[in-house]
Amino acid sequence: MTDNSAQGSAGRTADDVNAKGRQGRNVFVKTYGCQMNVYDSDRMADALAPEGYSLTQVADDADLIILNTCHIREKAAEKVYSELGRLRLLKAEREKSGKRLMIGVAGCVAQAEGEEIARRAPVVDLVFGPQSYHRLPELVARAGNGSTVVETGFDVADKFEHLAKPSAKAVRSRGVTAFLTVQEGCDKFCTFCVVPYTRGAEVSRSVGQIVEEARRLADAGVREVTLLGQNVNAWHGEGPDGRNWGLGELLFRLAEIEGIDRLRYTTSHPRDMDDALIAAHRDLDILMPYLHLPVQSGSDRVLKAMNRKHTRDVYFRLIERIREARPDMAMSGDFIVGFPGESDLDFADTMDLVERVGYASAFSFKYSSRPGTPGAAMADQIDETVKSERLAALQDLLVRQQRAFNASLKGKRMDVLFEKPGRHAGQLVGRSPWLQPVQVDAPESLIGAFATVEIDDVSTNSLFGRLVKGQDRQESNGSVAIPA
Ligand code: 5AD
Ligand code: SF4
Repeated sequence: MTDNSAQGSAGRTADDVNAKGRQGRNVFVKTYGCQMNVYDSDRMADALAPEGYSLTQVADDADLIILNTCHIREKAAEKVYSELGRLRLLKAEREKSGKRLMIGVAGCVAQAEGEEIARRAPVVDLVFGPQSYHRLPELVARAGNGSTVVETGFDVADKFEHLAKPSAKAVRSRGVTAFLTVQEGCDKFCTFCVVPYTRGAEVSRSVGQIVEEARRLADAGVREVTLLGQNVNAWHGEGPDGRNWGLGELLFRLAEIEGIDRLRYTTSHPRDMDDALIAAHRDLDILMPYLHLPVQSGSDRVLKAMNRKHTRDVYFRLIERIREARPDMAMSGDFIVGFPGESDLDFADTMDLVERVGYASAFSFKYSSRPGTPGAAMADQIDETVKSERLAALQDLLVRQQRAFNASLKGKRMDVLFEKPGRHAGQLVGRSPWLQPVQVDAPESLIGAFATVEIDDVSTNSLFGRLVKGQDRQESNGSVAIPA
């Protein structure tokens, strides 16, 4: 079957190519790090589909293996080199039997280390950064000729314009929830963070491109769209009314698209939470009541050293306004412990901030010194043991808050969007409005549909519930039939 409405940049889809009997090849993409990398891995698969590459979940079956890497913390970057060590053996085995295996390193480690990767790991055929994904077919062809290709330029005018579009079949195979990148890069330069160096300056996609992609997702059956950006609420663009739009206005526009029943966005910066965005949380039912709004530290002194450019009080006031607009809002965040110079008192301020805000979920990390960032050159680096103790105390508090939030949902009814089979036979797993996975006994026919679920039990990470009979919900894509 050919889907003409969603063809790749080369004008053909993988389905066309296979129908023409061209010899199929397999690509295996291993994704590390954030949701943006998940989105990008799909874009790489889409770019290679017209070249006859099918996505495989088994590395042993692949002709091309791509590691889509993360550079945010030292551990994440080191994982790549251990994986390349394993791949060296796989490649050697292949070569013994006269077959070729091509290995590519993409993502933020590729961008940050470039040539160094090819030098440290000669097994690699291809190193390419996030600005080159639309050129993947050409880069693979060059590497296929035997030379090691390193492509880490930032010279793309509009890479999104050139990215291959997935076929409707490919979108469907990825499920009823989808990511949609609206913005990439960051101009904030927090002193601990490599993102401004690996992903470059902030770039926003146009309203037209975003609406078109959202429509294509909805037409292929996607019900929930999560807008992505390293600094997603810094997104801005010219609206059809000629005014400069921010993320709030964009969300109002996307909410009009037939078929999209839920919207989310991640990840945000407190300084970019403007009035229109808060109004979107107040007025749009389909904008889910879950907000990931990293603060990193509760100490004004540390926030200043991190170049976050806001105080703890500004963050508290912001959260008050957001909760006024949407009283059922669940807050999530990111925290770093052990930033250079962080004293016991500074850390106590972080614990106090967490107590005052009350998080439904959060991510917390030990500070990891990243080469080239201002933080790496700061005096007063914190001892690893102290970092570990602080992280344990913070995570203990955050887990207690997460459990308390989940427990508050016991006995409550909520809409769940079912995504896939659950842990046990006869079960499905879906997502609550607050993003927790919900395990429910339900027939497979409900995958891709919403239903009302009553929560019976909770754990730290999941909710458990049962279908509420007679609570079918008419959604834009059709009705949900719950068996009696
Ligand atoms: N060390 C530890 N954590 C970091 N993060 C970003 N850079 C570092 C670093 N150098 C965390 C921040 C950010 C999240 C994506 O990763 O909390 O919000
Ligand atoms: Fe990194 Fe700060 Fe930009 Fe977030 S806002 S990507 S932490 S520099």
